[in-house]
This record gives sequence, C-alpha cells and structure tokens, in this order.
Amino acid sequence: MKLQGKVAIVTGGARGIGRAICERYADEGARVVVADVLAADAKALADTLGRGAIGLPLDVTRQDSIDAMVAAVVREAGRIDILVNNAGVFDMAPLLEVTRESFARVFAVNVEGLLFTLQACARQMVKQGGGGKIINFASQAGRRGEALVSVYCASKAAVISLTQSAGLALAKQRINVNAIAPGVIDTPMWDHVDSLFARYEGLAVGEKKKAVGLAVPYGRMGQPEDLVGAAAFLASADADYVVAQTLNVDGGNWMS
Ligand SMILES: NC(=O)c1ccc[n+]([C@@H]2O[C@H](COP(=O)([O-])OP(=O)(O)OC[C@H]3O[C@@H](n4cnc5c(N)ncnc54)[C@H](O)[C@@H]3O)[C@@H](O)[C@H]2O)c1
Repeated sequence: MKLQGKVAIVTGGARGIGRAICERYADEGARVVVADVLAADAKALADTLGRGAIGLPLDVTRQDSIDAMVAAVVREAGRIDILVNNAGVFDMAPLLEVTRESFARVFAVNVEGLLFTLQACARQMVKQGGGGKIINFASQAGRRGEALVSVYCASKAAVISLTQSAGLALAKQRINVNAIAPGVIDTPMWDHVDSLFARYEGLAVGEKKKAVGLAVPYGRMGQPEDLVGAAAFLASADADYVVAQTLNVDGGNWMS
C-alpha cells in the first residue's frame, strides 16, 4: 500500500502499459484517474478498479482538454498527487520519406502534450503545497537514433531532456519529475510498430516482434506488468530523493 490515499492521473491509461499501471496503483491504494482519448475504455477500466477511480476523456494535444481533465479531477478528488505522462504515439518512415504531418502528430502527443499536461498538473501541485510525483514515459528509442525511426526517437530524446529540466525546476517544491525508458513491450503499440517494420523492411507480420524479443538480454519482450514496479516506486515516498532521472526498464537493452 505504497500509494494509500494518493490521487494519481495516468494519461493513455486505457490500454497497454498505462492500463497495467492503473491496476497496480489501485492495488497500492491510490484513487486512479484513467485519462485517455479512448474515453469509453477509460471509463470501463475505472469502473473495475474500485477506490473511487475515475475515467475521463483526454486529448493531450488540446489545451482545453488538458484543462478540463485537471479541473474535473480537482472537482471530484480534491487534489493531484501523482501524474503518469504515459500517452504516446509511434510512427516511422525512411528519413527521405518523413512527412511534416507525421512529425507534427508525433511531437504534438509525445512532447507538446506531455509538457503541457505536466505543466497543468504541476501548477495544481504547487498550489496544494505538498509536493508530488511526475513520471514521464520516455523510451530506449530516446537513447539512440534509428535510421527508420528518426521522429519517434527524437520525440523520446526530448522527453528525457524535458524530464531533466522539469525535475530541476520543481525539485525545491518537492515535486519529483522522473522518467521511465521502456525497451520493447508487448502492447497494441508494438503491433503497430511490427506492421510498419513489415512494410519498410519487407518482413512477414510478427517477424520483427519475434526478433526484437530474442535480442533482449533478459531473453524476451517485456509485458506491461514488467513496468509497474518501477512506476510504483517512482510514485512513492521511497523515491523522494530521486530527481530528474530516466530509469531504463528494458531487460538489459540499454545501460547507463
Ligand atoms: N510498447 C513499447 O515497446 C514502448 C517502448 C518504449 C516506450 N513506450 C512508451 O510507453 C507509453 C505507452 O505505450 P504503449 O505501448 O502502452 O502504447 P499503446 O498505444 O498501447 O497505448 C497508448 C495509450 O495512449 C493513448 N493516447 C494516444 N494519443 C493520445 C492523446 N492524444 N491523448 C490522450 N491519450 C492518448 C491511447 O489511446 C492508448 O490508450 C508511450 O508513451 C510509448 O511511447 C512504449
């Protein structure tokens, strides 16, 4: 019960890694806010979590949507203690074929959406005066570029940098900003990744997924549940002195 009585928002919480974090946080005693563009799925998940969990619509690319979500949480739960900035999208293309539309979409969600959700929640935490915990979702893709994945890699490198800046900016207010960098995790996003690799590398569907799993030092792809221990730790008082870090949770793919 590391998170007893805490109010925790998980963006992109309706499925994949976010969903597993919502379930773990509820088990740890938190009142969870599942916030997602998949509004019906967010509500359905919240209904299963107990502890007064709330499902809310959220499109992190729209400031009015972020503001409405934060206002609804403060109205219904009274405060915000934890934000998990998990919503993200993936795209890839050979460098010479990257489009402005793809760049704009990936950066609107992964970078701009993450920053302005963080800002809105941090403003509320500062107003409350009791500190807080913010966990951003970076990626091993933010540690190193990839020929076919330039834009997504750049967006996740930006998340690592924003985590450092926000971590330093908010440390004195006792708002810990850290990030998790997952490796290859078996979620609906990776099915999309696999289909794009199939197109650009001429592979059969499922082939890339199998290969990346075999290449992980731990010996398999991650499951969403492999991320929840780190997410619970960074949201808890155990992480009070952990500031502006990006924690790799990737079965040994990247070392730093
Ligand atoms: N799966 C992996 O291998 C992997 C690896 C490294 C990092 N990540 C990162 O982890 C996070 C979660 O990934 P996942 O694999 O669970 O992805 P997913 O696609 O399975 O889930 C992402 C969730 O974000 C939501 N979302 C998308 N756009 C949104 C928006 N504009 N506003 C609000 N919600 C939105 C989706 O509806 C979905 O519920 C992402 O930030 C992703 O980039 C994933």
